[in-house]
Amino acid sequence: MNAQAEAMTDNRIPTQNEESAESLLQIRGLKKRFSLSGDFLDQLRFKGGKLVRHQEYVHAINGVNLDIHRGEALCVVGESGCGKSTVARIVMGLISPTEGEISYNGERIDNLNSRALLAYRKRMQMIFQNPYASLNPRMTIQQTLEEPLRLHHPDWDRQKVVTKVEEVMHSVGIDPDWGKRFGHEFSGGQRQRIAIARALAVDPEFIVADEPISALDVSIQAQVLNLLMEAQHERNLTYLFITHDLAVVEHFGTRVAVMYLGTVCEIANTATLFAKPRHPYTQALMSAIPRLEDDRPQHVRLEGEVPTPVNLPSGCVFHGRCPYANARCREEIPLLQTQDDGTRVACHAVEEGRL
Ligand SMILES: Nc1ncnc2c1ncn2[C@@H]1O[C@H](COP(=O)(O)OP(=O)(O)OP(=O)(O)O)[C@@H](O)[C@H]1O
Ligand code: SF4
Ligand SMILES: [Mg+2]
Repeated sequence: MNAQAEAMTDNRIPTQNEESAESLLQIRGLKKRFSLSGDFLDQLRFKGGKLVRHQEYVHAINGVNLDIHRGEALCVVGESGCGKSTVARIVMGLISPTEGEISYNGERIDNLNSRALLAYRKRMQMIFQNPYASLNPRMTIQQTLEEPLRLHHPDWDRQKVVTKVEEVMHSVGIDPDWGKRFGHEFSGGQRQRIAIARALAVDPEFIVADEPISALDVSIQAQVLNLLMEAQHERNLTYLFITHDLAVVEHFGTRVAVMYLGTVCEIANTATLFAKPRHPYTQALMSAIPRLEDDRPQHVRLEGEVPTPVNLPSGCVFHGRCPYANARCREEIPLLQTQDDGTRVACHAVEEGRL
């Protein structure tokens, strides 16, 4: 292991300054569990003649450390339920973490009150998967686009707000006539364009997009993706982009973080990850992509059941499905370690050189 790799071996949470020179957002030691047991009375059970309190949790996020660099599109991939949206919602301050810290531009933002958070809400915007649910049906498109401007620029006069709305409509290719109409009059793709316009209206620096094209018709997914990429170039945006579609990642992502059961198992530059996936789970994901020039190993079929985040497995959360698992994997949690090319992988087999 070289000196830099040694320094970045995560036997502890990286300090605020590590890997952070160009970081816009830092996630440190993030954990989130959701209670499944209801309120206090619901939790009481009789056991062996005694009243005991029984609490059960979904361990949605189990120690995530991640840096998002200024100007990049960091894609987060992983199967359903691995915690992608939970990370997004915590980053946006929509839910609070059980443990850990989120910093934006070096300032902690996970413990702010709603007033202090408002300044960040302007700089950080979110685009959701479902453009049907994310537009208020009682508002015209003009009102929808004016709303964030009125919230974040209470001092602006009417003309300034209207001019800004015109400008953002133009930049995302919305016909100004749409302003008088309501959300339900538009198709999914058009609605997502409106949702993107609303997010861009306040000139944010950072956008969290949670599966922004997966609810759309395949025929217009590329248009919306291109719109997001254009916006990134023109406005110098940084993205946290959640998707389960690896073709989208290859097209859109600067770097990729692969998640499994609430942990990050690999982070790499997009080209590196596709050329040389290292973690066994990443390898299985990659092997499932059909390719014309297929000279890669056969499709890796994962054995074993997908464990639930209610009863987390000991050691490596992937051990029940991993063909390389050994006794150490069943006991010791693997931590992200930096490889020579900067890729970070959490796997004992990679560390031991047996993979
Ligand atoms: N409010 C909640 N209460 C209880 N469990 C929750 C809650 N929100 C999420 N979870 C659970 O946390 C885990 C992670 O959920 P999350 O929505 O972050 O996954 P995801 O990776 O976004 O999945 P998908 O690809 O299906 O959107 C899941 O097991 C989910 O059921
Ligand atoms: S740590 Fe062990 S079980 Fe986990 S991915 Fe690596 S080899 Fe497989
Ligand atoms: Mg999700």
